[in-house]
Amino acid sequence: MMRFSFKKSKLLLSVILCLHIPHIIGQNKIPKIQLEKSQISSEFIEAKIDSIIAVLTLEEKVAMTHAQSKFSTKGVARLGIPEVWMSDGPHGVREEISWDAWSEAGWTNDAITAFPALTCLAASFNPELAEEYGFSLGEEARYRKKDVLLGPGVNIYRTPLNGRNFEYLGEDPFLASSMVVPYIKGVQKNGVAACVKHYALNNQEHWRDKINVEVSDRALHEIYLPAFKAAVQKGNTWALMGAYNKFRGQHTTHHKILNKILKTDWKFDGVVISDWGSAHNTKEAALYGLDMEMGTGTDGLGTGTVNHYEYYYLAKPFLKAIKEGELSEDLVNDKVRRILRLMYRTNLNPNRPLGKLNNKEHYQTARKVATEGIVLLKNDDNFFPIKDQKGLIIAVIGENATRNMTRGGGSSQLKPLFEISPLQGIQKRYKNATIIYTMGYESGAPVYDKVLPATLNQDSLYVKAIEVAKKADVVLFIGGLNKNHLQDSEGDDREDFDLPYGQEKLINGIYEVNENLGFLLVTGNAVKMPWISKTKGILQTWYLGSTAGLAIADIVSGDVNPSGKLPFSFPKELNDNAAHTFGQISYPGDGVNQEYIEDILVGYRWFDTRKIKPQYAFGFGLSYANFKISDVKLDKENYTKKDQIKVTLEVANTGNREGAEVVQVYIGKHKSKVKRAVKELKGFSKVYLEKGENKLVTISMNVSTLGYYNTDISDWSVEDGTYYLYVGNASNNIVKKIKFELF
Ligand code: BGC
Repeated sequence: MMRFSFKKSKLLLSVILCLHIPHIIGQNKIPKIQLEKSQISSEFIEAKIDSIIAVLTLEEKVAMTHAQSKFSTKGVARLGIPEVWMSDGPHGVREEISWDAWSEAGWTNDAITAFPALTCLAASFNPELAEEYGFSLGEEARYRKKDVLLGPGVNIYRTPLNGRNFEYLGEDPFLASSMVVPYIKGVQKNGVAACVKHYALNNQEHWRDKINVEVSDRALHEIYLPAFKAAVQKGNTWALMGAYNKFRGQHTTHHKILNKILKTDWKFDGVVISDWGSAHNTKEAALYGLDMEMGTGTDGLGTGTVNHYEYYYLAKPFLKAIKEGELSEDLVNDKVRRILRLMYRTNLNPNRPLGKLNNKEHYQTARKVATEGIVLLKNDDNFFPIKDQKGLIIAVIGENATRNMTRGGGSSQLKPLFEISPLQGIQKRYKNATIIYTMGYESGAPVYDKVLPATLNQDSLYVKAIEVAKKADVVLFIGGLNKNHLQDSEGDDREDFDLPYGQEKLINGIYEVNENLGFLLVTGNAVKMPWISKTKGILQTWYLGSTAGLAIADIVSGDVNPSGKLPFSFPKELNDNAAHTFGQISYPGDGVNQEYIEDILVGYRWFDTRKIKPQYAFGFGLSYANFKISDVKLDKENYTKKDQIKVTLEVANTGNREGAEVVQVYIGKHKSKVKRAVKELKGFSKVYLEKGENKLVTISMNVSTLGYYNTDISDWSVEDGTYYLYVGNASNNIVKKIKFELF
């Protein structure tokens, strides 16, 4: 046993004192960290940040720029500077994760409201609802004591195989921008930072850690960056996450697209956080714009150097490089300045509210988003809505009718307080009809990067499904994809465009015995639909979160009229999709490199320009009512570059119930000197109308938004000449085309 003498302990005390001497000497200069409510002007805060940086030691500053646990970074305890706590993700606040491992921490007070996936939010075409979504989610994050919410995701939908499309806002930069801005504002009203991800070009999961994307400057600026730009300049996001992939040979987490585009051109003053484990090099991380390094490799409690937080690129190696004069201390000062700014916006903001969790309003918002986002794709013979009648037998068939859809899928996985399945929702709503259920197929349970094999006999499930279908008046097949690895899930892409688990055979089999068949497609992605003629009705129902079943029953029963529109195109064949037209080098790449050969022609831009018919077009969605768009007018015939373009039109509900129509305004350049899509979305408005009601709608756009990214000057140019305005209720259903001139 070690023996302590008084002499030895005195020595120890003086060593400890010596180590802390700089702090003690500087004590009278230590600024008060906390603000009074009256002191939150940005000048005051910036001055305060200066005074704090002046008293921080180099070690303390470096410690703030990297993880101390899976989801937190260090504060400075002696000064009362707090830690920063983060959580996934875009659709709800993730359960607590262990300090030093990916396992769940096992808390009992971390169950939350699961909101619908972002594809569903995008399909609502309702920016006000996006703010409500962000606000509710922000309240939950705040209640769970999170400072940064790791979302929303705005990577553009380039291929239907991307395993993470369900976490993003679709294929169109204007739609994604319009939805991301209010989402961020809503979250941040709670004193919780949104962290927009994944910057940039993380458009597939396959090989995401290493794939090097080659894409033109035009496609970068016109397609892949606008939603990030809007998030920064209009949404004022306080944080942004780098991505795993490379772009032009360099990892995007430390790249000139951060310093040059994000921080200089767009003037982003927040914090760039790495994706977990996406930093690769100390010098690049220090120099090229990364502010905070988070990690996936985990050995924080061990004694080794591999994967230990203290040995991250922005930890000891960073400190050493500064001490040895290889890197300037200004670099860490800038990172710490941004981190302190984030703190004064979040955990050092004396005005931030306390947050709320699992309250009635959050469930109402979740249900509203879900019902507004569900898209009615097909409705022959008014298959939907289905009336609740005595004597009616409804067969519900398919694993997705009962499957938990908030588990699996990767980092967006949630632990909701409850999740009402489609079957439960239908059973609750239909009091008179008889509901019979059978599974039809089984897919196996998700575990992070694999799937446990199915436990039931697939042939018996099939036989049973056919028997049940025979007995019913109506069949609702509830299938699609799920959150298993290689489906709608992080870490890899789907391997196939078809429906998995033998569903096509099952639909064909059911159709043989019962043609009164509707399909509720639960996916975050387009799927191939060779079975389409076998169905009378199709609803695209996404992943809907806690109130999934209630929202589905709202729409199926007709209590709510569907008003969602597709935020991405559904191709008929995979190769009809632009990314898949140019072979392996375009998607998924050769293992090292990948070229976005389709360039700016992503999504409907491709279908329109190449005159390829999609299965379902961007912006398409039916209603139980009918609408008429008429009297479309422009406020002028000619515009100058400084003008606003004002479109007015009338929308009438000519159906026999209330409903909502999304009027979409696209603009295209006639005879451009550069390659252009036929038309691009530039405005939309969701119009709610009672039966028989008419509304006058005005949609305005700045002429500056008609520009293209001019690579000769590395800036936007607006061409003179003739343009066309297209107004419709889907990208392939244009009711009016008007020519105008720009001088
Ligand atoms: C994902 C991020 C996520 C992070 C933390 C990464 O693997 O790409 O989106 O926020 O993990 O869970």
